[in-house]
Amino acid sequence: MDIEFVRSRFIKHFDGKTGNVYASPGRINLIGEHTDYNGGFVFPGAVDKGVMAEMRPNGTEDTIMAYAIDLKDRVDFKLSDPNGPRASWARYIYGISKEMQKLGVPVKGYNIAFAGDVPLGAGMSSSAAMESCFACGLNDLFGENKVSQWDMVLAGQATEHNYCGVNCGIMDQFASVFGKAGCLMRLDCRSREFEYFPFKPDGYRLVLLDSVVKHQLAGSPYNDRRNSCENVVKHIAAKHPEGKFETLRDCTWEQLDEVRAEVGEEDYKRAKFVLGEKDRVLAVCDALTEGDYEKVGEMMYETHEGLSKDYEVSCEELDFLNQIAKDNHVTGSRIMGGGFGGCTINLVRNDLYRQFIADAKKRFAEKYGHEPKVYDVVIGDGSRKLC
Ligand code: GLA
Repeated sequence: MDIEFVRSRFIKHFDGKTGNVYASPGRINLIGEHTDYNGGFVFPGAVDKGVMAEMRPNGTEDTIMAYAIDLKDRVDFKLSDPNGPRASWARYIYGISKEMQKLGVPVKGYNIAFAGDVPLGAGMSSSAAMESCFACGLNDLFGENKVSQWDMVLAGQATEHNYCGVNCGIMDQFASVFGKAGCLMRLDCRSREFEYFPFKPDGYRLVLLDSVVKHQLAGSPYNDRRNSCENVVKHIAAKHPEGKFETLRDCTWEQLDEVRAEVGEEDYKRAKFVLGEKDRVLAVCDALTEGDYEKVGEMMYETHEGLSKDYEVSCEELDFLNQIAKDNHVTGSRIMGGGFGGCTINLVRNDLYRQFIADAKKRFAEKYGHEPKVYDVVIGDGSRKLC
C-alpha cells in the first residue's frame, strides 16, 4: 500500500483535489491477553501493516463523504444524524469524529478515502488502526494537533464502546498510536505507564499463522468474558468492604478462591486465567532482559493453554496450529488478540522456521481445505502524518 494508490482514489472519487495523508498500524501482542480491561499488563508492538487515509475538509458544516477503497463502497452521512451510518466501516469514521468533538475538536464536514493492508479478522486490530488513523487526521485538520496521544487512544476505545458494541480494553489503540519501529511496549493498563523494549531476538523470529477463521467481537463472547471478570471483582469487593477493588488486578489468588463457589466455575476459571496472565507478562519481560527466549516461549504456550481451556476463546483451528508448533519444536506459540479465530503468534528458531511453515501449511490444508496465511512480523511505527 502506498500514498499514490490512496491519493489516486481520493482524487477520482471526490473533486480532484488532494488532501493530507495519515497512516496507523495494526499490532501484535507478544503476551498479556485479556488483561487490559482487567487493569493488568500487555506487551504489544505496532506492525508494518495498517490503514492509510487521505482526508480534506469539504467546506460543509458536518457532511462526511467517505470512500472505503478496498470495499469500493461509498457512504455519505451527517455528523448531526443521531443514528449515524449503518455500514460497519463507516461507523468507525462517525464514532471517532463524535469522540474527537467531545474532546473539543471542532470537526466539520470532510472527505475521506482509506485503504488497509492489516488482514481483517486476523486479531491484528484493523479496527484500532482505522480509529487511530482517523483520529490523527482529525486532530491535524481540525484540532491544531492539541489532542494528546493518550486522548486519541481513549477516543478510539470509546468509538468501539459507544458505536461498535465492543467493550474492549486499551491495548490495540495504544499500540497503534504509540508504536515504535523495532520496539515492543510493556504497558501497565492501570497506571498507563509504559516502557519501550527493543526487540531483536537473536537467532529467532516472530511469525503469525492466520487460520483465516473470522472472529466477530461485536456484541459477542468478548463482552461476556469481560462481564465474568467484573462479576468476580464485585463478589470479592463485597467480601472485603475495607479494600479497594476496581479490577482483577487488585485481587489475589486467595480472594479468588474465597468466591469460587458463589461465582461459579466458568467465571472462576476466567478470572484464574487473568491472574496468571498478569504474572506471565512480567516473567516474559524478565526473561527477555536476560535473553532467555526459551522461557518466553514456555510462557506463550501456558497462555495458549489458559486461553483455550480456561478463558475459552480458542477454536479447533487455533488449537491445531498450536499443536503443529509444538510438534515442530517451535519455542513459543499461542492465540493472539481477542480469540475466536484469527492468528497464532509463534516465536521460532531461525533454523526451524522453514520446516515449521511447510508442515503447518501442509497439515492445515489437509484438515481444513486451505493453507493458513503466513505473516513475518516487522515491528513498525505508530500513527503519523505522511504528507
Ligand atoms: C481485543 C481487544 C483488546 C484486548 C484483546 C485481548 O483485541 O480490542 O482490548 O482485550 O482483544 O487481549
